[in-house]
Amino acid sequence: MGRSLVKWLLWGLIVLVHLHGHRGCFEEERMGLLEIKEEFVRSTPNETIQESIKYLIPSGVYPLFGGHILPSWVDDHKSECCEWERVTCNSTTGHVTHLSLHNIWEFDVYFYYPFDFEDMVWFLNVSLFESFKELRSLDLSFNAIGGWIEHKDFASLRSLEVLNLGDNNFNGSLPKCLCGLKKLEELDLGWNSFEGTLPSCLYNLTSLQQLDLNGNQFRGNISSLIVDLTSLKYIDLSYNLFEGLSFSLFANHSKLESFQFRCDNKKVEIEMENSDWVPLFKLESLVISNCSLNKQSHQLMTFLSHQHSLRKLDLSHNGLKGPFPDWLFRNNTRIKSATLNHNSFTGHFHLSLCLNSTYVIDVSNNQLNGKLQQNIGEILPNIRYLQLSDNSFTGSLPSSFGNMSLLDTLDVSLNNFSGEVPKDLFVGCSMLSILVLSNNYFDGHLDWVPISNLTRLYIFKINHNQFSGAMPNELPNFVNIARLFILDVSNNKMSGRIPTWICNLTDFGGILMQNNNFEGQIPCETTTFELLDLSHNLLDGSLPLWSSTRLKHLHLEENNFSGSIPEPFLNMSELRTLDISDNKLSGSIPSAISKASNLRILLLGGNQLSGNISTQLCQLTNITLMDLSRNLFFGTIPRCFGHTLSFGIFDAQYWASGFRSGDSVYYLDVEINFVTKYRLSSYKDDILTYMSGLDLSCNNLTGEIPLELGQLQGIHALNLSHNQLTGSIPKSFSDLTKVESLDLSHNRLSGEIPPQLIELTFLEVFSVAYNNLSGRTPDMKAQFGTFDASSYDGNPFLCGLPLEKNCTRRDDSPTPMHSSEVSDEKWYKVDQTVFFTSFLVTYIMFCVGVITVLYINTQWRLRCYNLVEDCMYSCYFSISITLRKFSAYLYN
Ligand SMILES: *[C@@H]1O[C@H](CO)[C@@H](O)[C@H](O)[C@H]1NC(C)=O
Ligand SMILES: *[C@@H]1O[C@H](CO)[C@@H](O)[C@H](O)[C@H]1NC(C)=O
Ligand SMILES: *[C@@H]1O[C@H](CO)[C@@H](O)[C@H](O)[C@H]1NC(C)=O
Ligand SMILES: *[C@@H]1O[C@H](CO)[C@@H](O)[C@H](O)[C@H]1NC(C)=O
Ligand SMILES: *[C@@H]1O[C@H](CO)[C@@H](O)[C@H](O)[C@H]1NC(C)=O
Ligand SMILES: *[C@@H]1O[C@H](CO)[C@@H](O)[C@H](O)[C@H]1NC(C)=O
Ligand SMILES: *[C@@H]1O[C@H](CO)[C@@H](O)[C@H](O)[C@H]1NC(C)=O
Ligand SMILES: *[C@@H]1O[C@H](CO)[C@@H](O)[C@H](O)[C@H]1NC(C)=O
Ligand SMILES: *[C@@H]1O[C@H](CO)[C@@H](O)[C@H](O)[C@H]1NC(C)=O
Repeated sequence: MGRSLVKWLLWGLIVLVHLHGHRGCFEEERMGLLEIKEEFVRSTPNETIQESIKYLIPSGVYPLFGGHILPSWVDDHKSECCEWERVTCNSTTGHVTHLSLHNIWEFDVYFYYPFDFEDMVWFLNVSLFESFKELRSLDLSFNAIGGWIEHKDFASLRSLEVLNLGDNNFNGSLPKCLCGLKKLEELDLGWNSFEGTLPSCLYNLTSLQQLDLNGNQFRGNISSLIVDLTSLKYIDLSYNLFEGLSFSLFANHSKLESFQFRCDNKKVEIEMENSDWVPLFKLESLVISNCSLNKQSHQLMTFLSHQHSLRKLDLSHNGLKGPFPDWLFRNNTRIKSATLNHNSFTGHFHLSLCLNSTYVIDVSNNQLNGKLQQNIGEILPNIRYLQLSDNSFTGSLPSSFGNMSLLDTLDVSLNNFSGEVPKDLFVGCSMLSILVLSNNYFDGHLDWVPISNLTRLYIFKINHNQFSGAMPNELPNFVNIARLFILDVSNNKMSGRIPTWICNLTDFGGILMQNNNFEGQIPCETTTFELLDLSHNLLDGSLPLWSSTRLKHLHLEENNFSGSIPEPFLNMSELRTLDISDNKLSGSIPSAISKASNLRILLLGGNQLSGNISTQLCQLTNITLMDLSRNLFFGTIPRCFGHTLSFGIFDAQYWASGFRSGDSVYYLDVEINFVTKYRLSSYKDDILTYMSGLDLSCNNLTGEIPLELGQLQGIHALNLSHNQLTGSIPKSFSDLTKVESLDLSHNRLSGEIPPQLIELTFLEVFSVAYNNLSGRTPDMKAQFGTFDASSYDGNPFLCGLPLEKNCTRRDDSPTPMHSSEVSDEKWYKVDQTVFFTSFLVTYIMFCVGVITVLYINTQWRLRCYNLVEDCMYSCYFSISITLRKFSAYLYN
């Protein structure tokens, strides 16, 4: 009796366990999942690798290293594997049907797109998935998977309908076994390094509805693939090496909704114009960018007049011609986003229908002209993003802009707009976060009161116009715009005092007010921004007593500041650029300068600074450009300059922070005097990062030139002219292998010119004029063949070509004389043309190298672009989030 009771109880228990298991989770699948977890834990980057990728990880956003992944996947029989995170089971059968193993280490995807942690690469064993007989959907994206360990067969995955291998490091050709997945409806292979032609068996996957091959190096002709896969709804062929195609291949694809083909260069030919062609599909999204679209006609496709479902159209960078296509908007009134920038559309930007569904229009970089239609605000009542820059628009901005109450971004820069900016714009467009009016002919006084009501304003640029008047000292709604990231009112005709509210304006952005007529003192007691440019104004008083830990770039040059350089002012550990040249500053350089250890550019020229050149300057080991010229410094040139300063090259990335919005990038420009003229194109700014130089000219320096200066091997320009230097020219100067400009003129140097100097192959400007040199001039070889007698003028004892005096003849000469004429021009300005010419040659060589590498390796190129983007993104995380939501909202 007791025995049978135990027996019954046992049976009951078994049934219970069985029921329990069936309801949730099959043991086989539970074990399979645990094995998968184990595999991921095993592949977690070890400390060496973590260290090597650390630089890619923004602070505060740490991935789940250290085995903390998939915390709910525990080896405990009570645990229901169907309830584990990232697992979905069929509620009737209890089998696992969906596995979503995307980004298992939980990197902040946003920062690393596309995924490029080659150091982390690991290989996946397909047999791990053998236990899952009913798996329908498998997502392994964003995990640094480099390939399969064994992939003889994907037999176990036969039921798979959705497979996502995107954003990994797969390379080589596409494994044929994928073709066994006959039920596949979605295949995402985007952003890997797959290469070669697509296996023809892929054509048999006729259920395929979504195919994403974006960002690989697939090549060959894909026409037959397209013809066979007639169920396709979504196809992305962007960034591969495919041959061009004719869009008529899609004639039978009645289900096609989205076609994406972004090219790297304008070589891939895509022909979409087919006169008697009425497509069966109704596209919702069409993206063809930077390709050779309709090579013959360069016309916009007429079939677009029947795509009434079209929501997103991106035909940017395609060289399309013809008048602005108003018909496109008339026929496709549901268009949400139309990106037509970087084409050659001409004529007026005129829309004839009210487009209440249109959120994004980008027609920048075309050849549109004329005035904007007066009712533009009524035509685009719901527009969020309107990009009109770089056309030839004229006239004033219609006041109907004020009706665009949802407008987030308005950029009308680089046009010929004029007149006053309508107040309605500031009052009505209360959602504005980016407003760019730069480089036009706007004038009048701005009304700052409604501007300060724009609570979302983030970038406000009105530079290079003719705005006049003062900025009010008090702003009633100041607190609303306190987080402005860029305020750029530079290059206008504004006057009055600097308002105190700018001091509290931005947490980490920049304020640019240079090239105006602002006067008075700097009102700020502290700073919160990264960049402040008040140069070229009429400011006076003493320099502020700041000690900011944020300030990176400070430009106060060409004002009337007086007094000494305050000590705390140099106690700014983040400072990269300090330009206070051409003021009336006096006193010596404070020893605190050594604390500004990140300084790259120190420009103090054109003041009345005196004293010895402090050896503290030698502690600025990262300096690339130092100008102490046109002051009253005396004493000798510190030897330590040669020991510690490298005058090397540094990253452009270090300088310009920017913020990307749509196809436009708004840089927080770092503007250095000598590139001012060149800064209209942004790449010119990069030249700055290759410029390095030391200018000590026009002082009262004495003693010999230290031999150690020959160790400044990265230097491009060295100017010691107009001093009282004695002794001979160091032979070690032949080690200045990068030097392009060397000026030692107007000193008291004696002895011979070292003949080794002819080894300086980049030298473009050379002067030893007005010294006491003797002997032979260097042979007229290499660069020295290009210097004429003016390089040697005023040295009566020199002989040899290009001088007229022959070295064999001895004759009396007048005693060396000293000219007191002092050039007013800056050393770097004098050499600028020359510098840029020779720079350009070097630069082109460098670019050819880089481009060759990038050309060969598409993946690098794409990632390179993306890296730059990523960096910009990471700088401005907070706004990006908003925009991300915004764009998600737009495109969904
Ligand atoms: C980390 O992993 C890499 C590659 O798997 C290996 O070469 C290296 O020796 C490992 N380092 C340590 C400390 O385990
Ligand atoms: C669960 O499986 C049953 C039997 O295979 C099937 O009929 C049902 O559609 C599946 N349910 C879901 C949600 O997939
Ligand atoms: C495609 O399928 C057909 C029949 O279904 C078969 O004859 C053909 O060999 C397959 N092609 C490839 C490349 O697998
Ligand atoms: C669209 O454009 C064509 C000409 O391209 C025109 O004939 C047609 O009437 C327009 N309207 C609609 C609703 O298709
Ligand atoms: C746009 O206007 C049409 C009629 O003019 C209206 O039916 C439609 O609802 C409006 N759509 C939106 C998004 O406001
Ligand atoms: C600023 O905004 C407030 C509330 O949003 C509004 O009452 C006020 O009229 C606005 N002021 C200006 C000058 O636009
Ligand atoms: C600016 O900040 C300072 C101190 O942080 C504060 O005393 C002052 O009131 C602020 N000014 C404005 C206009 O907010
Ligand atoms: C020089 O710059 C590098 C970055 O390029 C930085 O890591 C280093 O700390 C800097 N040196 C000093 C002395 O600040
Ligand atoms: C330069 O130094 C010399 C000698 O030290 C001195 O006589 C002369 O006045 C100085 N010149 C200037 C402009 O300071």
